[in-house]
Amino acid sequence: MNETKIIPVSATNPDPHIIHHAVEVLRGGGLVAFPTETVYGLGADVLNLPAVRSVFDAKGRPSDNPLIVHVAPMIHLDEIVDEMPEMGQLLIDSFWPGPLTLVVKKTILISDLVSGNLDTVAVRMPANNVALALINGLGEGMVGPSANISGRPSPTTAQHVYDDLRGRVDLILDAGPAEIGVESTVIDVTVDPPAILRRGGLSQENVERIIGPVQVGGGDLARRSPGTRHRHYAPRARVILVPFENDREFADRLSLHRQNGNHVGCIVNSPQLAKLEAGELFRVLPSSIPIFARHFFRMFRELDALGVDVILVEGVPEDGIGAAVMDRLRRAAQE
Ligand code: TXA
Ligand code: MG
Repeated sequence: MNETKIIPVSATNPDPHIIHHAVEVLRGGGLVAFPTETVYGLGADVLNLPAVRSVFDAKGRPSDNPLIVHVAPMIHLDEIVDEMPEMGQLLIDSFWPGPLTLVVKKTILISDLVSGNLDTVAVRMPANNVALALINGLGEGMVGPSANISGRPSPTTAQHVYDDLRGRVDLILDAGPAEIGVESTVIDVTVDPPAILRRGGLSQENVERIIGPVQVGGGDLARRSPGTRHRHYAPRARVILVPFENDREFADRLSLHRQNGNHVGCIVNSPQLAKLEAGELFRVLPSSIPIFARHFFRMFRELDALGVDVILVEGVPEDGIGAAVMDRLRRAAQE
């Protein structure tokens, strides 16, 4: 077991000495957890296969679930990507750096270990100065799955990473809470029209504004996007999802579970439900989808820490990033 160090670093203007130290850890085959605008990632040098293997081990991640290669302006994309379709380039020009991951044909430099034996690779340029400085310093792509134990809620703070991966990661760069709070949108641009494989921080509406209509999922989604096959985002408590503004159903379920002797935590956002009650187990978020997105993974973890048996969560409308939030909530509830 390694000792895990947490080092605070400025999100906007990271100290070059800290970045240099983190790059040395990566060059030595170590793992560095890093902030992004979506969630924290678990970084390793994409060309160092033992290090990549230890990313899978640290997370307990199935080997058929490929990793995203994170890039920065100084990285040569053509060493990673064999062919960038026009639609992909249009999306890059509009949304990088940002919460957009593109699935494209890979070069022979990208190991099957990284791509889960597919002939494609997922690439993204995160909008976070710490992540960008780290990747530029490394001078290679950096693999970066979300820095949580596989299946658990994604980490939106350095503390979440520590709670899950203490002893399995060498260094955690702490630049404060992630802004967006859900992962990047994954789009396969090798098919026509392009297909959204995972909803995320970039909305379908914004994607379609640039490249026109896209497919979402599709029949062979499970084959093309291995991540969708596995259980995800789940706290220890059982999650029950109640649709947005269904006050009656919410109140009924709450009293039912309490009658059954369950310790119930709630996460709500509609104004009517917010009035229902107060207290530590009742978490009220403003009825703003981006704010809900930023905080709900943290609330899952906090309610878990309070030892609840059941988390009753009110959904959000499926507009914009709300579609990504609802995808996470449904999977957490295993519906
Ligand atoms: O926002 C994010 O994307 C975060 C931050 C750290 O950048 N990273 C992240 O990575 O969420 P991860 O490993 O937790 O999720 C990667 C997703 C998985 O659903 C995986 O199956 C999919 O991307 N993926 C990766 N490579 C793929 C490929 N070649 N084809 C299809 N899907 C791929
Ligand atoms: Mg993940």
